Amino acid sequence: MAIANSIRKEQFDRLDGVIAEWKDVPGGLLPIMQHAQEICGCVNEQVQHYVSEKTGTPVSVIYGVATFYSQFTLQPRGKHTIGLCLGTACYVRGSQLVLEELEKQLGIAVGTTTPDGLFTLEATRCIGCCGLAPAMMINEEVYGRLTPEQIPAIVEKYRKIG
Ligand code: FES
Repeated sequence: MAIANSIRKEQFDRLDGVIAEWKDVPGGLLPIMQHAQEICGCVNEQVQHYVSEKTGTPVSVIYGVATFYSQFTLQPRGKHTIGLCLGTACYVRGSQLVLEELEKQLGIAVGTTTPDGLFTLEATRCIGCCGLAPAMMINEEVYGRLTPEQIPAIVEKYRKIG
């Protein structure tokens, strides 16, 4: 299967430095993966194969690490991450309808990124703002008491920011 090449050479050059530093350290795979995520924006198949080749660690082990820890993402994140809460308080107050409107406005399914790389849409557990249910976070900003009708304007605001 062909592996999409979305990671740039300079990102791999930086990763080479990290691998050289951690390669022979016991337990060094996790910090390598953390740096890879930071440098490349994700640990997709291309990154996994690169780390495997450079460290001599089987891809299956690297894939296992990449999918076990929630800190890792397998595809690049968009510039703006929208995390809609589907925790109980938000759910009973209609967050599913808000989610459907977000999917419609962004033209993507939850768990994916828009083709222009602007938005990643995620469903989250409780974000600690139950009093504002239904709530979501866009990057570090909290939006509460949401209705589907508010979503187009909120999305548009971030589209304008770019
Ligand atoms: S359940 Fe949504 S913020 Fe707590």
